[in-house]
Amino acid sequence: MPVTVLIGAQWGDEGKGRVADWLAEQSDAMARYAGGDNAGHTVRVGVRRFGLHLVPSGIIHPHLTCILGSGMVINPLRLVGEMDMLAGQNIDISPERIHISPRAHVITPAHTALDGASERALGEGSIGTTQRGIGPAYSAKAERTGILTGMMADPAAFVDAVREQIEQANRMLVRLYGLDPIEVDAPVDDYYAAAERLAPYLHNTTQIVHELLDADKRLLCEGAQGTLLDIDQGHYPFVTSSSATVGGALTGLGFGPHVIDRVVAVAKAYCTRVGNGPFPTELDDAMGQRLREVGSEYGTTTGRPRRCGWLDAIALRYAVKVNGVTDLVLTKLDVLSGLDTLHIATAYDTAQERVTSLPLDTATAESVTPVYEALPGWHTDISRVRRFKDLPANAQRYVERIEALVGAPVSVVSVGPEREQAIVR
Ligand code: IMP
Repeated sequence: MPVTVLIGAQWGDEGKGRVADWLAEQSDAMARYAGGDNAGHTVRVGVRRFGLHLVPSGIIHPHLTCILGSGMVINPLRLVGEMDMLAGQNIDISPERIHISPRAHVITPAHTALDGASERALGEGSIGTTQRGIGPAYSAKAERTGILTGMMADPAAFVDAVREQIEQANRMLVRLYGLDPIEVDAPVDDYYAAAERLAPYLHNTTQIVHELLDADKRLLCEGAQGTLLDIDQGHYPFVTSSSATVGGALTGLGFGPHVIDRVVAVAKAYCTRVGNGPFPTELDDAMGQRLREVGSEYGTTTGRPRRCGWLDAIALRYAVKVNGVTDLVLTKLDVLSGLDTLHIATAYDTAQERVTSLPLDTATAESVTPVYEALPGWHTDISRVRRFKDLPANAQRYVERIEALVGAPVSVVSVGPEREQAIVR
């Protein structure tokens, strides 16, 4: 069966970009199925570092076909900018390689302005979105007032729709939020130019996926964000607006579950989160600061400092179950080197009882106290280790304990940011 789905097992930023880059070598095509430029996937190749937000990270492998599926929301200006950046690095971005679904939805300046306005209005209770217009674009999709990417085939009609949407948003910005209206003409011109650029890339991606699968080609579905940010499986409303879990690949690309043979989940060896919402193992102390600095935990998309904490085995086991994970990739194990003791949350105390499964209620998840298991750390540098048996015994024990607690095998451990800094088991 030819499909691998790659998902984030925590709150995003687990290092999916580089795992996608490894899996790309065994794939014929790579598809994004959900989200938009709220995602930030970093891939390093030698001294070159690519920050990708929309184009599947497989683009840097010349043999791969890249698909932007129907489940995505796409800001055309950002996509054009990203394609120009890739072209500037001599990467082939021809329409023979990149296929954009005409059924994805377009993010317009109306959506980004409304995202910012709504976040500001929420104040203390804000979600902490990336302010890329993701929520408003998916709202418009669900309301059936959105603009499909397919409309870019007719740039004049497309920008009429964009103009109308901005004018409507302006009425809301002024009347509901008491803000100034945003500019209309300049963005409309930019969107016209972007539509002309992108129209040749609009293809029937569902059919392309079916043809690939019929020909037994290997398709890698590159998830964005993480399981605990999924609109249905995360702690609402502190979630993104799309299906970041395995189900999103099926609905966002258009195939059935029987073709999936691997669900690879990426998890950090500790936890991070950007934005607000429950994070039971968050460390608001010197240890949290240490993880942030050693792990360079600052957002790829927004530069925001990430909240950091110990590994949460309850949340990770939840992700394993929700996605039917077949293998785990554990990233950034090297960040934990040098600590005397490591902690893994194995239960939570609520006001009433001790639980070992994730509370679905957001307020409960916000208020739990984690119960930790302590494990001995290691003090040697592991960044050059390439075989599992060469890791310090306590590092091996840490990985094996995670496998036992979450119920999935760890097939790869990463020990540094470079492509080759990985231990394949
Ligand atoms: P939105 O997707 O911009 O609406 O943001 C909703 C929530 O998801 C916020 O907490 C964001 O910080 C978070 N989020 C969205 N995309 C990512 C990502 O790629 N990595 C980590 N967090 C993300």
